[in-house]
Amino acid sequence: MWSCITDFFTYETTKSVVVKSWTIGIINRVVQLLIITYFIGWVFLYEKAYQVRDTAIESSVMTKVKGFGIYNDKVMDVADYVTPTQGASVFCIITKLITTENQVQGYCPESEKKYTCTQDSDCTKHLNKPGSYGILTGKCVHFNATIKMCQIKGWCPAEIDTIKMTPMMEVENFTIFIKNSIRFPTFNYTKGNFLPTITGDYIEKCNFDMVNNTYCPIFRVGDVVRYAQQNFSKLGGVIGIKIGWMCDLDKSDDECNPSYSFTRLDAMSQKTAVSPGYNFRFAKYYKMENGTDYRTLAKAYAIRFDVLVNGNAGKFNMIPTLINMVAAFTSVGVGTVLCDIILLNFLKGADQYKAKKFEEVQCFWPESLNHCISFIGNQINTKTVAHYFCLMSPFGVFLVVC
Ligand SMILES: *[C@@H]1O[C@H](CO)[C@@H](O)[C@H](O)[C@H]1NC(C)=O
Repeated sequence: MWSCITDFFTYETTKSVVVKSWTIGIINRVVQLLIITYFIGWVFLYEKAYQVRDTAIESSVMTKVKGFGIYNDKVMDVADYVTPTQGASVFCIITKLITTENQVQGYCPESEKKYTCTQDSDCTKHLNKPGSYGILTGKCVHFNATIKMCQIKGWCPAEIDTIKMTPMMEVENFTIFIKNSIRFPTFNYTKGNFLPTITGDYIEKCNFDMVNNTYCPIFRVGDVVRYAQQNFSKLGGVIGIKIGWMCDLDKSDDECNPSYSFTRLDAMSQKTAVSPGYNFRFAKYYKMENGTDYRTLAKAYAIRFDVLVNGNAGKFNMIPTLINMVAAFTSVGVGTVLCDIILLNFLKGADQYKAKKFEEVQCFWPESLNHCISFIGNQINTKTVAHYFCLMSPFGVFLVVC
């Protein structure tokens, strides 16, 4: 027991063995050089490990769509084709509309093919199933002179949404104006996508493109769709306009700029034939003189735009710099492990080196165990193992090495 205590209160320092060998010397330096290059090139310069990062970007987005289209011989303006109208980061531009006018509450025949019938019993099987335009009454009534359909109670006449409509092609030439302000709370840094270099004149006539006008905040719908690699004429779906802010705040302010990219977000519905595109219904309500409500129902096919903002900012800070420098210096030592393995196993005269490197210590455990430890790896200093063994055994913990 006493020997354990005296063994514990000791200090060990490593004894160096200098090996004058070109082979191992070159390997050693090359490995060290690789490790240093990795840390300087990748960790420090590329990953900027000397900075603290703020990824909690705060952002506000305002949008405005402009342009006129012609649909069903009517001129459509923003109030007609953009919904919701608040100019938020998510908005829809309606490209196709199926309107059903003058609907009132009452009884009328269904309009969908699956509700055709010849007698009442054909309709009772549909009762309590959703999917029609009203509550089914279970009666079979005339839709027109030749066809009979199940009757519903609801808004009448029922919508006929199977008519083919061509989309409003002018949408392609509409423009989306995006105003985006961001803030990095950690550094209290704010910026907007109206860069100081952008003048009023420029905004009047610029259109974003990927080559010459990368900071123009006005986007042609056709361009956005094209950049998202979609075909405008058969599009209905969700397009993401992504604004990325990757800022290095150690550099000057004009190098913190937005970068725009475009993708289709509902890529899944692109692949399936079930429920393709994007549509929704809304209604406008009116009152007749006698007080009854009537409405115009619209089924709208639209392109939805989501403006997504992401980004992060980094700035020099002492703590990550120190931590990463320590990691870098420690890692240079990893080269020694590799060199030791080569030196003690593969180099000519390995046995000699081994003898120089490890000195035999007096052991108090069986020879076989000692052999086992030296087998496990020359890396383990036998003396250290002896210490552990000594410290552990009083507490009944056995060091299992083989
Ligand atoms: C969009 O604008 C271009 C150029 O002004 C014009 O040639 C084209 O016909 C327009 N497209 C539609 C669908 O109106």
